[in-house]
Amino acid sequence: MCGIVGYVGYRDCTEVLMDALSKLEYRGYDSAGIAVFDNEEIKVAKSKGRLADLAEKMKKTGRLSGHSGIGHTRWATHGEPSDVNSHPHSGERVTIVHNGIIENYKALKDFLVKEGRCFKSDTDTEVVAQLLDYYYDGDPIATIAAVTKELEGSYALGIIFADFPDTVFAIRRESPLIVGIGEKESFIASDVPAILKYTKNYYLLEHDEIAVLSRYSTSIYDLHYNKINKELKTADWDMDAAEKGGYEHFMLKEIFEQPTSIKTTITPRIVDGLPNLEECGITMEKLNGYKQIFVVACGTAMHAGVVGRYLIEKLARVPVNVEIASEFRYRDPIVSEGDLVIIISQSGETADSLAAMRLAKKLGAETLAIVNAKGSSIAREADMLIYTHAGPEIAVASTKAYMVQIAVMYLFAFELALAKGKITEDECRRLTSLLTQIPDTITKILENKAETQFIASELITADSLLYIGRGLDYALSMEGSLKLKEISYIHSESYAAGELKHGTISLISEGMPVIAVATQSDLFDKTISNIKEVKARGAKVVIVCRDSYNPDKDVADYKFGLPDEVEDLFMPMASVVPLQLIAYYTSVLRGNDVDKPRNLAKSVTVE
Ligand code: M6R
Repeated sequence: MCGIVGYVGYRDCTEVLMDALSKLEYRGYDSAGIAVFDNEEIKVAKSKGRLADLAEKMKKTGRLSGHSGIGHTRWATHGEPSDVNSHPHSGERVTIVHNGIIENYKALKDFLVKEGRCFKSDTDTEVVAQLLDYYYDGDPIATIAAVTKELEGSYALGIIFADFPDTVFAIRRESPLIVGIGEKESFIASDVPAILKYTKNYYLLEHDEIAVLSRYSTSIYDLHYNKINKELKTADWDMDAAEKGGYEHFMLKEIFEQPTSIKTTITPRIVDGLPNLEECGITMEKLNGYKQIFVVACGTAMHAGVVGRYLIEKLARVPVNVEIASEFRYRDPIVSEGDLVIIISQSGETADSLAAMRLAKKLGAETLAIVNAKGSSIAREADMLIYTHAGPEIAVASTKAYMVQIAVMYLFAFELALAKGKITEDECRRLTSLLTQIPDTITKILENKAETQFIASELITADSLLYIGRGLDYALSMEGSLKLKEISYIHSESYAAGELKHGTISLISEGMPVIAVATQSDLFDKTISNIKEVKARGAKVVIVCRDSYNPDKDVADYKFGLPDEVEDLFMPMASVVPLQLIAYYTSVLRGNDVDKPRNLAKSVTVE
């Protein structure tokens, strides 16, 4: 979490840093700060709160003026959000910004205190600044190399030395960092959208590589001072992808981008009407060999895995375990050679998912990553890789990334079922063709957004609510519930509808909202019975079901209808849309910051 940036060039550095940080604010918004070489002297401005608070503060304290510097937007880990704990942090001659966690900071701090150093903040980052200062002998690269040998944990660091004006140094281990290359200017950033306004060209920094940025040249070294020649990458996103484009929030824009995201993700993977994942390293022979599959991920990405399990087990009859990455990595899982472990991640940097993938590899399993962020750690380390092509997802609440993750799970399940001989080529072709029609279905559903706005207006005063469903509908209830609580701050739970009567139904009281997803024909009657049970106990029921079903008064108070022509198997891609919109409008109506919900960050690079 946290976003870091750095700039060296001819532009007004404060403007560039503030602009770049605004594109990274989704990574944390507890505080913000910048350090700029102003008349060859390092000057710092920082403030608790958002970037806007820093801008306000600078109006009073004075704007920093110069052409090189570093910046930070924080998701607090060590030390409460406060002015003093905000980055940048400084020693006498060194100032830094940091994304990551220094696990051995306590021991390092004790050592430095014994050596007579004084600390101002409670952060692990200040320890790194002081340590750099302690070792500094006039050679920045040697000092950075020496200090990082002592650090345990994760870091992407932007570093400036007082006696090296107009030069920015950077290093990373585990936490992501890119180096942007423009005309007579260069940048560092935690993520590509931060630099897109200025350049599309960038280097991906690898672990323990040190970047040295100056106006006319940028060089990258290893820890032994050897210069490294790296491949210059070009971002395939344009600026619009990282802008709101007329929508009130990124989340709404991203919900509306879903039809396009699905098309760009699946079209290149369909050849002659059949799924073809060969380009991702997945062959029919390989698929035929897997006896057991694990899907490991966090949050919404894990929910995409739950949909995947239903699809794979139903179509290919291969057993699938879906696991939360933070549990999987510590529970000594029974995984071995011949197993396939699928890691799903939008950011490709989620610490627990990355660790789970490394564990799976160590245990001998093959790993397949389904990742949105190009060049991310999970993408680089997996044995096989399917990129989802959703473009940058900026809102903290994941929507289009989830949609393309499940789109990939469909293609994967179809191909696996074909490889295992569980479906015929004709059936595979038919299913693939139905998948290609889903973007149009979603466009149609989005036309009814006003209905979800009305439903949201009925939920805003609730203290707590339930999402229920069976089978695939239960998988969707999980995602609907997470989305709502994440951005509306209303407590909600998802429950398998048939399980309610084993305890949870006692929570139902007069007027408690229950959102019921009932799209699966084979389970429909049973779900309706469960809905009647909660309705009879006073629940206010919203049902998400097929258009043609008209609920009686003893079933539901409100209905959101989905196109009848969608086959049961594909209903998740349809039913998630109203669930996303209900969460979105509930958050808007409650006056919340939809794109940046409290206490959260987009990319979770800590355990
Ligand atoms: O980047 P990842 O997909 O690995 O992130 C996993 C979760 O942190 C993420 O899906 C989170 O649950 C979303 N904010 C939910 O909307």
